[in-house]
Amino acid sequence: MTTAQWPGLFISFEGIDGAGKSTHIGALAAAFKAKGRAVTLTREPGGTPLAETLRTLVLNDAMDPLTEALLMFAARRDHLSCVILPALARGDVVLCDRFTDATFAYQGGGRGFDEAVLKQLEIMVQGTAGLDATLLVQPELTVWFDLAPEEAAKRLAGARVPDKFESQPVEFFRRVADGYARRFIAEPRRFARIDAGQTQSAVWQDVHAVFVAKGWLV
Ligand code: TMP
Repeated sequence: MTTAQWPGLFISFEGIDGAGKSTHIGALAAAFKAKGRAVTLTREPGGTPLAETLRTLVLNDAMDPLTEALLMFAARRDHLSCVILPALARGDVVLCDRFTDATFAYQGGGRGFDEAVLKQLEIMVQGTAGLDATLLVQPELTVWFDLAPEEAAKRLAGARVPDKFESQPVEFFRRVADGYARRFIAEPRRFARIDAGQTQSAVWQDVHAVFVAKGWLV
């Protein structure tokens, strides 16, 4: 099942830390509101009181890779059932800063955690009919801000106190970027790949053009 079965629109945004997605997500929220659409602007891990508590833990505390993956999916489950699905049922445009592709990229790619286990967790958390992997709640569109890890590291340097992930070496982000690329190759129709190495205004033009081409912001 995709969210096309709900009146709302589910869109996620992905990329390695430093790829610069936040400004554009805010601009898209404003553009949808200007068209009269109700917008739910949210993020992962987070988006509910419980999931924000889990976010603080997972971004700051040391833990083994399975615990990290379980907490990401626990936060996602709460977020889906308390925020995302009700918003889609109301007809909102849900703009979600990261979703499950981030788990495959960071925990799968970055940490090297078993992707078959992540797949099982994805089915448990997003599945709608037992273990039928074809019936998953997934974004209708995932905007992937693709940026070279070296460039992201330059942008992040000195920007703020880094969290557990932001303080990882560039090799970690190379594996994360490869993880995103694998998701993109596996499901090219769900993804819009944006060259995030351009100027901010050029990136915005590309992002906006994707939404216009979909007929969502004409
Ligand atoms: P943010 O800083 O973009 O809000 O993302 C929080 C961090 O959490 C970011 O470094 C990516 C990481 N993350 C994961 O490792 N796995 C996940 O499933 C999600 C959603 C985020």
